[in-house]
Amino acid sequence: MTRALVTGATSGLGREAAVQLGRRGWRVAVSGRRKEHLEETARLVKAAGGEPLVLCGSVTDPADVKAHYAAIKAAWGGLDYAVLNAGVGDMMSAKEFKAESVQWTFDANVFGVCHWMEAVIPDMLAQKSGIIAGVSSLAGFRGLPKSGPYSASKAALITLLESARVDMIGTGVSIVTVCPGFVRSEMTDRNDPGTMPFLMETPDGVAAMLAGIDAKRRVVHFPWQLSYASKYILPAIPDFLYDWIAHQFAPMRVKKPTVR
Ligand SMILES: NC(=O)c1ccc[n+]([C@@H]2O[C@H](COP(=O)([O-])OP(=O)(O)OC[C@H]3O[C@@H](n4cnc5c(N)ncnc54)[C@H](OP(=O)(O)O)[C@@H]3O)[C@@H](O)[C@H]2O)c1
Repeated sequence: MTRALVTGATSGLGREAAVQLGRRGWRVAVSGRRKEHLEETARLVKAAGGEPLVLCGSVTDPADVKAHYAAIKAAWGGLDYAVLNAGVGDMMSAKEFKAESVQWTFDANVFGVCHWMEAVIPDMLAQKSGIIAGVSSLAGFRGLPKSGPYSASKAALITLLESARVDMIGTGVSIVTVCPGFVRSEMTDRNDPGTMPFLMETPDGVAAMLAGIDAKRRVVHFPWQLSYASKYILPAIPDFLYDWIAHQFAPMRVKKPTVR
C-alpha cells in the first residue's frame, strides 16, 4: 500500500489532497499545528477509505519534523509520496518593510520544506524510489506587489526544487514543483474575491495537483490561463513593462492578516 505524507493538512489544499489520496486506499500521514482540524482530516481520510496517521506539530521545528518522520518509519517503514504543502502568506508593502515578516514566511514556506527533504531523501535514495512534491506558487515567477516575502519564498522554493530535481536524476527519486494559481482555501478566503482571476474550487485544484505529481511532471502549474501568463509571459516581458502592469494591480492587492 502506498505510503503518503501531506503537510499542511488541516485545511485547504492539504486537507483535500489527504482525502483524495485516502480515496485511493493509501496510507496518508497528515501534519499541521491545529490538532482538532488535523483529527477531522484524519476522520475524512478514514471515511474515504485510507489509513491516516496524525502528526501534530510545526514544519518550522526540526525536532517536530524528525519526530514525525520517526513515527512514519515506525508505523510504515518509510514513505513513497510526500506532498510538502504547508505554507503561509501575508501582504507586506516594502514601504512598511519588516524583516520579521520575511523570516516568518521563509520559515514555513522554505525551511518547512527543507526539514522534510532532509528527513526523507536518504531513505528514498536507499529504496531507489519515491516522489517529493513541494507546493510553491505562480507567485514565485515574478515579485508581486505587496507580496515580497511570499513571492520570494516561492521563488526560492522553485529554484531549490529545480536543483534537487537535477541532482536526483538516475536515483529513482522524483522531485515535483507544484505552482498553483488561485484555489479556494483559508489562505485565499482572506483575499477580495474580485482579485483572484480563474479561482479554482479546492477539489479541482487538488485533482490537477495530484495528477501532475502522479505523472512525475517536473513543474505542475494550473489553471492553464493564469499559469501560462505567470510562467511564460510575465517573466519574458521587459522590467519597465512589468513594473507598469504590476503597479496598476497593486491597489487591488489587500488581504485580511493571518492570525499568527
Ligand atoms: N490557495 C491558493 O490559491 C494557493 C496558490 C498558490 C500556492 N498555494 C500554496 O498551497 C499551500 C497550501 O495553502 P492553502 O491555500 O491550502 O492555505 P491554507 O488553507 O491556509 O493551508 C495552509 C496549511 O499550511 C499549514 N501550516 C502553515 N504553517 C505551518 C507550520 N508552521 N507547520 C505546519 N503546518 C503549517 C496550515 O496548518 P496549521 O495552521 O494547522 O499548522 C494549513 O494546513 C501553501 O504552501 C500555499 O502557499 C496556495
